[in-house]
Amino acid sequence: MIVRKTPAELEKMRRSGLLVYQILQKMKEIAVEGVSTMDLEDAAAKMIGDAGAKPAFKGYYVPAAGKTYPFVLCTSVNEEIVHGMPNPKRILKSGDIVSIDVGVKLDGYYGDSAVTVPIGEVSEQTRKLLDVTRESLELAIERVRAGNRLSDVSAAVEEHVKKNGFSVVREYVGHGIGTQLHEEPQVPNYVDRRNDNPRLKEGMVLAVEPMVNAGRPESVVRRDGWTAVARDGSNSAHFEHCIAITNDGPWVLTRP
Ligand code: MF3
Ligand code: CO
Repeated sequence: MIVRKTPAELEKMRRSGLLVYQILQKMKEIAVEGVSTMDLEDAAAKMIGDAGAKPAFKGYYVPAAGKTYPFVLCTSVNEEIVHGMPNPKRILKSGDIVSIDVGVKLDGYYGDSAVTVPIGEVSEQTRKLLDVTRESLELAIERVRAGNRLSDVSAAVEEHVKKNGFSVVREYVGHGIGTQLHEEPQVPNYVDRRNDNPRLKEGMVLAVEPMVNAGRPESVVRRDGWTAVARDGSNSAHFEHCIAITNDGPWVLTRP
């Protein structure tokens, strides 16, 4: 069942959304050459605590992994697609890209958003990977409207990514969000006729999160049991927003 939220609930989700936005703004500021991914974790953890919120990921049980995720952030560098773990030894260097994914729970409602940040000078190809992934999310957001089908959202991402010669990761998908971090429906970044394809309705909230590889789409999980990486070692980008369906169209909760 897809839970639909009342306007009052959406206002609460807006507060969670703006908190994750503020955290990611801060992350963009401090993610520079020489900083470790654990430095990002520490700063995000402090902001969440100061806001009286709870981290959404830390302690969250992930069925596919069979265990709970141990950090506030996912910091996925270069070929890491998602669930990269903060590490004081992972020092960001020029040419790297780092996906920073953060979730919070505030007043009973979740917010979840991700950005991929270039460090120093990145290659032209990498710059394009980030642009195309960000654009694919924007095109998807435009389709988060009452009356559309879920596959309209997925198709927007898939078409833009393929047209630009990159590939969509299939093993990880977006999701509904509300009083749970992961609610129905799953939001794939590709169209699969086998998936059910609900019609979108007012009050639904989707976390849309394209994960795009520069090379082949396949992923593998490292021996740490968490870090999903592009099997061919190519760079991977990830952007995420939470979007509510309103009578006035898509409302991106995770940006002002
Ligand atoms: N943004 C990802 C998601 O919504 C991050 C999940 S982190 C984990 O699924 F805690 F669930 F591992
Ligand atoms: Co998410």
